Amino acid sequence: MASATLKGMYDAVDLRSRFDDVRSQTEQLAQPLSPEDQTVQSMPDVSPTKWHRAHVTWFFETFVLADHERDFAPFQDKYWFLFNSYYEAVGPRYNRPERGLISRPGAHDVGRYRADVDDRMRDLLDSLDEGALAKVASTIELGFHHEQQHQELLLMDIKHVLSRNPLQPVYAGTPTAVSEPDRLGWVDVDGGLVEIGAEGSADSGFCFDNELPRHQQWLEPFRLADRLVTNGEWLEFMADGGYRRPELWLSDGWARIKTEGWQAPLYWSQLDPSTGAGGSGTWFEHTLHGTFPVDPGLPVTHVSHYEADAFASWAGKRLPTEAEWEHAARTATGPTAGSVVGNLANTASFHAEAAGPATGGLRQLFGDCWEWTASAYLPYPGFHPAAGAIGEYNGKFMSGQMVLRGGCALTPAGHARASYRNFFPAGARWAMSGVRLADGGAPR
Ligand SMILES: [Fe+2]
Repeated sequence: MASATLKGMYDAVDLRSRFDDVRSQTEQLAQPLSPEDQTVQSMPDVSPTKWHRAHVTWFFETFVLADHERDFAPFQDKYWFLFNSYYEAVGPRYNRPERGLISRPGAHDVGRYRADVDDRMRDLLDSLDEGALAKVASTIELGFHHEQQHQELLLMDIKHVLSRNPLQPVYAGTPTAVSEPDRLGWVDVDGGLVEIGAEGSADSGFCFDNELPRHQQWLEPFRLADRLVTNGEWLEFMADGGYRRPELWLSDGWARIKTEGWQAPLYWSQLDPSTGAGGSGTWFEHTLHGTFPVDPGLPVTHVSHYEADAFASWAGKRLPTEAEWEHAARTATGPTAGSVVGNLANTASFHAEAAGPATGGLRQLFGDCWEWTASAYLPYPGFHPAAGAIGEYNGKFMSGQMVLRGGCALTPAGHARASYRNFFPAGARWAMSGVRLADGGAPR
């Protein structure tokens, strides 16, 4: 769940305006996609676009309308089964790896479902008195942030879907100019007793429950790279046998190399997209705005935690812990200090961009690529999930996953913050994940 930490009372007009904004943003992201595009599931972790559109609608129907709408009845009984993601307390659900088999309801039917729930949500917001609004507002707020999470997932997932199509379809977005490789710098960060976790009213006004409670951590002094690892540096790692040297790899990572045959980041291929021929030695990268030769100045992305860790070993460095990352982000100096700005989804390149000129501070903290940390995804001291189904939102996933920080070029603006904890299994590569190196401080 989320604990919505409020700066003040909710206002129905404001909630309705924000509801309209987040709902229309989802539809805008789906707009370039045909009904056929929206139905494909290219691997078990990927969900079809229309499933995302329906599931976020199910969330409002299940957690808001069912409890607060007079004479509530579901739009379709079976949608409760089809579009429940993982909430055991709500009831049984359809098998996740088979979401691509749901040819009906079609994309247009999902549109009708969305419109129906939108109308009922607006009617509800128009009808609630102040007391009733106070009871439901934090769940509606959670629904906004949940839908933004799925906006990012929708883009991540359709990127994988389109990557499997031999025609190499383009989703949208504008290619960036070929960039100049930039020298890596280092920023010294003081250690000591620091605080991490969401700050409640001092933050943006909302956090998920996994960002709480704010608590103390001891950090040794450390250094962070001032930008993300680039494709050019990754090519050097590959040329030096990075994917062939077991001494660089965690045991589980080396096992994945053997079973999956990893030789490069997920969307890299030596097949020329214009001819379909391979063997030229040139690496190409699939992006949402097309397939291009790998640009050495852009951040490397779509690498697993195992690959990030092996690269750090090869470089004689390590990955930062999540506490180091958050403390550095909160105490950063430079032109963007104290603000969450970067190449997020609102810039519409839908891909990581070059770091730009050195500033003496940390570049690319927010946006571009989620940054793998060395921290396992665990509850903060004193963490308690909420009671009931909504308590299943985060807490039950705190096993076998690693934390990523900072957001990526697919993250909606307004959905990134210093305390945000994303998490994926160490072998996951379809998230837009990259690498920032650390040095000193915590031992490897
Ligand atoms: Fe969800």
